Amino acid sequence: MSAFVVLGAQWGDEGKGKMTDYLAEEAEVIVRFQGGNNAGHTVEVGDRQYKLRLIPSGILHDDKLNVIGNGVVVDPEALFEEIDYLEEEGVNVTPKKLLISDRAHVIMPYHKILDVLKEKSRGKNDIGTTGRGIGPCYTDKFERCGIRICDLLDESVFTEKLKQNIGAKSDYITKVLGGEELNYEEIASKYLALAERLRPYVKDTSVAVYNEIKADKKVLFEGAQGMLLDIDYGTYPYVTSSNTTACGVASGSGIGPNMITNAIGIAKAYTTRVGKGPFPTELDNEIGEWIREKGHEYGVNTGRSRRCGWLDAVILKTTVRVSGLTSLCVTKIDTLAGLEKLKICVGYKFNDTVIDYFPASLNDLAKCEPIYEEFDGWGEEVANARSYDELPNNAKKYLARIEELTGVNISIIGVGPRRDQTIRVTTQL
Ligand code: GDP
Ligand code: IMO
Ligand code: MG
Repeated sequence: MSAFVVLGAQWGDEGKGKMTDYLAEEAEVIVRFQGGNNAGHTVEVGDRQYKLRLIPSGILHDDKLNVIGNGVVVDPEALFEEIDYLEEEGVNVTPKKLLISDRAHVIMPYHKILDVLKEKSRGKNDIGTTGRGIGPCYTDKFERCGIRICDLLDESVFTEKLKQNIGAKSDYITKVLGGEELNYEEIASKYLALAERLRPYVKDTSVAVYNEIKADKKVLFEGAQGMLLDIDYGTYPYVTSSNTTACGVASGSGIGPNMITNAIGIAKAYTTRVGKGPFPTELDNEIGEWIREKGHEYGVNTGRSRRCGWLDAVILKTTVRVSGLTSLCVTKIDTLAGLEKLKICVGYKFNDTVIDYFPASLNDLAKCEPIYEEFDGWGEEVANARSYDELPNNAKKYLARIEELTGVNISIIGVGPRRDQTIRVTTQL
């Protein structure tokens, strides 16, 4: 039995898409369990680049089953845009290759409207969301007024729930937030048409995934976002609205936590963040700018430039603890080539003590000063390295220190965006 998880160990965009595609070779089923099309996962194979948002990054492999689990929030319009885009790129997305949970919640037009208008109303206290309706959709899920995929497929249930939701939300949208009136007829006819297109893909995916694991098929769970965007353990309120940690796998896909055998944390060799919120090791200077340009640090989803900073071992230790990581995959080691000196944050000075965890209070976090260790850089480009031995000594020292600080082995190293630009250090994940 093997079920392994690929998780973002920082603030998202660590290279989960690339690594899921790479590791999909070793799995039969690839499952998304949380988030939605707020994710932007890039996969490069040869000279082709694919951008995935909602569909698992195993889709480029013809013989794999991809599953959108119950914990995901699904925007049907965005889903079919993505399917059409993939089909145009020559990637098959039939119901044989893609299943969608009947329990997943549907992102409705009013969720997207609420996301954008609420952000506007927050003014300078905005979160910097992707505007995809993720937060408002999860809010309805927990408020217990959400529309699930199984509801959308049943016309009488759907129209009833849609009327109730529009009734409950329209005054808030128009009178409080200054938005436009919602048009029931328009939304109903559009979504009922989308329902028919969705129907062949829909299944009880908990049963499907459980049966695959029981039949000794390898199942890979692909996380979206990252550790510090987690609703419970992230830098709240500057987080997303789901559990991005390994604990989200069980509730978001409908299997028991004891079925998970390995959890691989994907970490960039430095740190980035999109959107607002605290970032202790941020480099708001020419080094940060240098990393942004060399690493092409611009968001897949919204095109926003990513904030860049030194690697923070406090973040990685948090991920090891909260998600029970069994190994780390360090990506973008190639980006750092050319920097004379590098730093890793090994702890925070907080009042008169040193801590190696994230305080819950943002006021306390603001008082934390990173404590750095400095490393000599390496001038040699590593994009063509295919084994650990081919890496420069200073890169090896940097990586060895990450292992020491986190207490976890590095199983994979990324040296470029392409599938083949990957160094497998250990077979054990
Ligand atoms: P995800 O959201 O975690 O899947 O990551 P994104 O796709 O949003 O961002 C990661 C970016 O880095 C993408 O452009 C990838 O193609 C690229 N990438 C992934 N791994 C590596 C690597 O090891 N080196 C380099 N240079 N780029 C990488
Ligand atoms: P992947 O899977 C990086 C950030 C947004 C914002 C906050 C809340 O590609 O790593 P939301 O729209 O989810 O309510 O926005 O979370 N965010 C991400 N940042 N990578 C992502 O996904 C993200 N998904 C959401 O920028 O700060
Ligand atoms: Mg991304």
